[in-house]
Amino acid sequence: MNTESTDFLIIGSGVAGLRAAIELAPFGKVLVVTKDRPSECSTEYAQGGIAAVISDEDTVGIHLEDTLKAGDGLCREEAVRTLVEEGTDRIMELIEWGAEFDREGMKLALTLEAAHSRRRILHAHGDSTGKELERALLQKVLTLKSVRKYPFAITVDLIVNNGECHGAYVLKDSELTALFAKATILATGGAGQLYSRTTNPLVATGDGMAIAFRAGAQLEDMEFIQFHPTSLYSPTAPQFLLSESMRGEGAVLLNTSKQRFMAGYHPKEELAPRDVVSRAIISEMVKTNSRHVYLDLRHLEKDFLKQRFPQIYATCLRYDVDITEDLIPVSPAAHYIMGGVRTNLDGETNIPGLYAAGEVACTGVHGANRLASNSLLEGLVYGARAGSAAGRTSVVPSGKTERKAAPSSIPNSDEIKKNLRRVMWEKVGIIRCAESLGKARSVLSGYDAVVRKEYALRHELELKNMLTVARIITEAADRRRGSVGAHYRSDCKERGAQWQEHISLDRESFYPY
Ligand code: SIN
Repeated sequence: MNTESTDFLIIGSGVAGLRAAIELAPFGKVLVVTKDRPSECSTEYAQGGIAAVISDEDTVGIHLEDTLKAGDGLCREEAVRTLVEEGTDRIMELIEWGAEFDREGMKLALTLEAAHSRRRILHAHGDSTGKELERALLQKVLTLKSVRKYPFAITVDLIVNNGECHGAYVLKDSELTALFAKATILATGGAGQLYSRTTNPLVATGDGMAIAFRAGAQLEDMEFIQFHPTSLYSPTAPQFLLSESMRGEGAVLLNTSKQRFMAGYHPKEELAPRDVVSRAIISEMVKTNSRHVYLDLRHLEKDFLKQRFPQIYATCLRYDVDITEDLIPVSPAAHYIMGGVRTNLDGETNIPGLYAAGEVACTGVHGANRLASNSLLEGLVYGARAGSAAGRTSVVPSGKTERKAAPSSIPNSDEIKKNLRRVMWEKVGIIRCAESLGKARSVLSGYDAVVRKEYALRHELELKNMLTVARIITEAADRRRGSVGAHYRSDCKERGAQWQEHISLDRESFYPY
């Protein structure tokens, strides 16, 4: 096994990882490890935008209130306050580094999304906001000599000695390398690939959550999965997000009988919170015995739609759907996980030397349901905070390691992955109950032997991580006997007695392997 040392190791290169790298650059050598090319991350695919207090009609207090309300009583108020107070500065800094947001005249253009009481969503190139953020951050990183990228290297596990994190074992070109570092920041993104319907890219396999769990970190709020109401539904097209900002600009939902239905579910209709809209869609799909509903923009001005949503327009057209003329078949899809590796406001986990930021982390800003467009903001604010705290770490990495190369293989990995994704969608999805969760647990536990082994190929390591995270989500969903935010139990529709308690799982309290 090779060994290499750096001062700081960042795993993941989306908005949180890159922002952390920029913050860490003055403190020493920074290595940014990614399992794919650096821009292949959820940030790159984020369409709608990034929320921040920009308009004169908005205030930090109103953004705070909207976020707390969406989080349905389970946000950590201090974490939200930090997010909204520091958010605007982080965005202005990004603009100084070259990020180009859309403008109306000289002013930044702001749109509306569900559960925001003010127009505060910045966007870039219409519907390619994440891509623009990633471009600007990568460009800034290029100017920093102390930051080096280390692509196509999957992290196998963290190096933990005497309860401290001293770096990570990574696999690149079939070679295992121990990368030692004073501080390690997990910024690996989410776990949408655990579900058969998802808006997330293929890389979102919950790796950071699984490796942190194996190392002894606490995972919190894992039962809270946000399902985006409108992902393109077509047997011949890939799953593709149709941004909520389309509803913000006036798009409406119709069932397959071509009737609007949201008024029957929530006074805010199409701009109701995401979980309400997703459940309403599922209910209409059941009523009409259909696999989708429709998003309708035909009443909006054609040129406006082409210019406001150029990427969505072009992608849908490729699959014979003209969003200016046709009804768009849509159905919900797993989009974001509110839970993750528990951290404080500086990204510190319960393991000294290990930090987490972005979707992989649970700072508590999202509570039980994330306010739309707060996640890129979280990546910027908490990526910077984790970077700044990691720069001050006093952990001294030791060169000791006993890891061996891993020879096992999973012969039927494609089939296991398909079963896992189906069972998560059907039994641990938008609507859950004790019976469905029990079924999921029994299917997933059948694969425990797979999780106990070690592997040397990316797809096998990903599958092991997916199985681990799936078990944790199922357990947390079972333990929360009540419905709060995005977690909806058909067998306990009320909040339940201990609804304000957060569910934290670690190897000590829940270790199925
Ligand atoms: C969207 O564009 O609808 C996604 C925005 C988000 O999830 O924050």
